[in-house]
Amino acid sequence: MVRTSALVTAAASLALGVKAESLYSKNSAVLQITGTDYDRVIAKSNYTSIVEFYAPWCGHCQNLKPAYESAAKSLAGVAKVAAVNCNDELNKPFCGKMGVKGFPTLKIVRPSAKRGKPTVEDYQGQRTAKAIVDAVKDKIPNNVKRVTDKNLDEWLQDKNETAKAILFTDKGAISATLRTLAIDFAGLVSIAQIRNREAKAVETFGVESFPTLILLPGGTSTPIKYDGELQKSGMVEFLSQVAPPHADCPPPNPKKAKAKDEKKNDKKASKSSSKFAKASASHKSADASSAAASATAETVEEPAKPSESPDPKVNEEEDAKPVVLPEEELKPTIPVLSQASDLQATCLNEKSKTCVLALLPKDESSEAVVSVLDSLASIHKKHDKSGSHLFPFVAVPASNSLASSLIADLKIGDTEQVHLIATNGKRGWWKRYSGSSFGDVEVEQWIDAIRMGEGQKEKLPASILAAGKADTREQEPEKEKTQDQQPIKAQEEKIVEEQQKHDEL
Ligand SMILES: *[C@@H]1O[C@H](CO)[C@@H](O)[C@H](O)[C@H]1NC(C)=O
Ligand SMILES: *[C@@H]1O[C@H](CO)[C@@H](O)[C@H](O)[C@H]1NC(C)=O
Repeated sequence: MVRTSALVTAAASLALGVKAESLYSKNSAVLQITGTDYDRVIAKSNYTSIVEFYAPWCGHCQNLKPAYESAAKSLAGVAKVAAVNCNDELNKPFCGKMGVKGFPTLKIVRPSAKRGKPTVEDYQGQRTAKAIVDAVKDKIPNNVKRVTDKNLDEWLQDKNETAKAILFTDKGAISATLRTLAIDFAGLVSIAQIRNREAKAVETFGVESFPTLILLPGGTSTPIKYDGELQKSGMVEFLSQVAPPHADCPPPNPKKAKAKDEKKNDKKASKSSSKFAKASASHKSADASSAAASATAETVEEPAKPSESPDPKVNEEEDAKPVVLPEEELKPTIPVLSQASDLQATCLNEKSKTCVLALLPKDESSEAVVSVLDSLASIHKKHDKSGSHLFPFVAVPASNSLASSLIADLKIGDTEQVHLIATNGKRGWWKRYSGSSFGDVEVEQWIDAIRMGEGQKEKLPASILAAGKADTREQEPEKEKTQDQQPIKAQEEKIVEEQQKHDEL
């Protein structure tokens, strides 16, 4: 059964067009990572990162895209700007584990004292490139020493065999670029910043303009003045005459990386006389390998299944007393609620949470009816199997006296067709499925959007809800769960709340 409304068809094809595809193109400055890459590329990185958790269908994510791309460009070489597509089945458990409850969620991840165990904070600021760039730069750790005339000699004598670099500047703040440089060369080149008003230091090094970068290759040996542009890549290259910078994160595959390193060393040996080895290349390759890792299937491992949680809500369906079909039934099915009172108690009261209702026409033999029931049953079964809690799916036959008034009150249309809707009595909304078919892929996409709190919701007329039919489930305290035990699928309520917060931004 195909719907004919042009509007509905357009909306459906739009929804399909963005399916599980990435929001960012392959050439984007935004580093696209998977749950598998995260540990190596972000968590174990010496760099500070911002990670966006998004779903391609999400309007706020689409709105953020230009600003995020531009933030990625301005932070290039300074911090990592990454994105995870939470609509991708492989990433869903990871997004759940990271506590993602709405889209987009932005988290700033920076190295802590414990290597590989970074500090993760939600970014709640404005969704503009400038605000994002400033917030990320602000989190980059500082290993640059402020040196004055008073402590110059002391600093020069400290670890006097180690190479040193000094940026002379008229600015007070230590730039993100200089801080990142100190991270790249940690333990290899000690970096200091000296202000123009430190007359003795300025005179000692014969500095005439600001900013000026000076390298002392042997700690106290003859200074070399940098005459290039004060940009990250040029500065990295300049300091690399001492030693190549550290990779910002571990290589993708230990074996492969080793082979690569050997090759690199061979190359280096062959032109060892060149003091000015293109060291920024090693930096670039680290970034490139990160990008490559996310693009190849090589590193994709089976993600951890969300663990079964002792969530008391697992019994929700039983409590709601839908008609339970015999267990021997082989083909998965969904409960059929033929009594108005059952439907009211399960889904249509002021306390009921999200329900998915298939409103059936009198003629239940049509292809659409078979298809929608099959899809719903198999989707629910899949979720049950993975141990995640999913809101009830119920079938409402035309014989249920509430069905026709529901169709009339919601102005859904004729009673000859199947209608698939979602309702939430407690929050007073409903949504309608507008896909062109009832195939399980398309229906599941719609269900996922509901779980994530995405998409347009209509106001549920109060007349539909039976007042006063308290549902005791609500009083059950929800057990505190650890992050590991929170499959994203079980979070629908919170997701909706969070989404509303996001919408206010
Ligand atoms: C480094 O410091 C040690 C002791 O502080 C001193 O003996 C040595 O001569 C210094 N080396 C240079 C190159 O200044
Ligand atoms: C990170 O920085 C440390 C020094 O602080 C360095 O030893 C390491 O090689 C760098 N890179 C990685 C991937 O840890």
